[in-house]
Amino acid sequence: MTPETEKLLQQLEEKYKTMGQDLDTHLEGLLYGKPITYWDYIQTDALLNLQIQRTNQPDEMVFIMYHQINELLFKMILWEIQQVCYHEKLTAQFFSERLMRVSRYFDMLTSSFNIMTEGMEIEQYLKFRNTLTPASGFQSAQYRKIEFASTELINLIDARFRETIDRNTPFEHAFEHLYWQAAGKNFKTGTKSYLLKAFEKKYKNEFIAFAEAYNTINLYTKFKSLPQEVKESDALQTAMRHYDYTVNVTWVMAHYNTAVRYLNHGNEPEEATGGSDWAKYMLPKYQRRIFFPEVWTEQELKDWGKDV
Ligand code: HEM
Repeated sequence: MTPETEKLLQQLEEKYKTMGQDLDTHLEGLLYGKPITYWDYIQTDALLNLQIQRTNQPDEMVFIMYHQINELLFKMILWEIQQVCYHEKLTAQFFSERLMRVSRYFDMLTSSFNIMTEGMEIEQYLKFRNTLTPASGFQSAQYRKIEFASTELINLIDARFRETIDRNTPFEHAFEHLYWQAAGKNFKTGTKSYLLKAFEKKYKNEFIAFAEAYNTINLYTKFKSLPQEVKESDALQTAMRHYDYTVNVTWVMAHYNTAVRYLNHGNEPEEATGGSDWAKYMLPKYQRRIFFPEVWTEQELKDWGKDV
């Protein structure tokens, strides 16, 4: 037995002793353990059994799988953001490196979006989409969580109501004025579309708890707490601007152009499965969601989304 093996055994002995466990039993277990395989580790069987079509149109498969890829990447993004936000001794290096990871994932989502824009026959899409009504990508909970975790709530409030909402506004009230309420809420009567009602029934409580948890630890607040010279470094400024613009303008426009291709055939845009006034609702110049206002000049903020 090599000294390395002896040392490992000693460490294992200590580990199991602390747990009140017998090392010999665990070693014997190893004797009969099955070797790990790729398919067990990656869970390929489970993963490849999650693509269930509602119609016989082959391109529906493209639609389902690309959405699932998006959700997996959303999960990767949240995984990294969570590590930055909950870090107890955050360093500039850790912050920058993780922000770059998040940025790369969103770059991938943006550059791959033409899988949707170009990659399905319009005729097939128009057939299978009827079976999806009244569901919509609007109801992606992870997408909303990325927003809550990236910035302060005030930056997600509908631009028309920002003046009336501040840090002390109860979350419930702020929630009712989030920019995405405009997709299905009539602010005069307070009535909400089915899309919004179903979404809130499932996620409202979870969203409020999540937004509360990230209220003081979101990416933007964390960024602002970094030392001045770090905040102003070219590399970090570039990374922050890149992420903000990719999520809130480039991705949004790739998505919007896809909606135009599939839903804008005649004089009037077709109604979306979620039923929003999408041709207006989805444009960055109206939504004006900007995660990190501090990294933009006043002019850039004024012109947000107007160059696309
Ligand atoms: C052919 C492909 C697509 C079309 C035509 C499309 C269309 C739309 C439309 C019209 C809306 C507005 C809400 C509504 O009334 O339904 C919407 C919202 C949304 N969709 Fe898509 N979408 C497509 C693909 C995707 C993909 C792949 C994702 C990725 C998860 C996605 C995520 C979202 C999100 C997050 C929203 C809410 C955006 C916001 O609130 O600003 N969509 N989509």
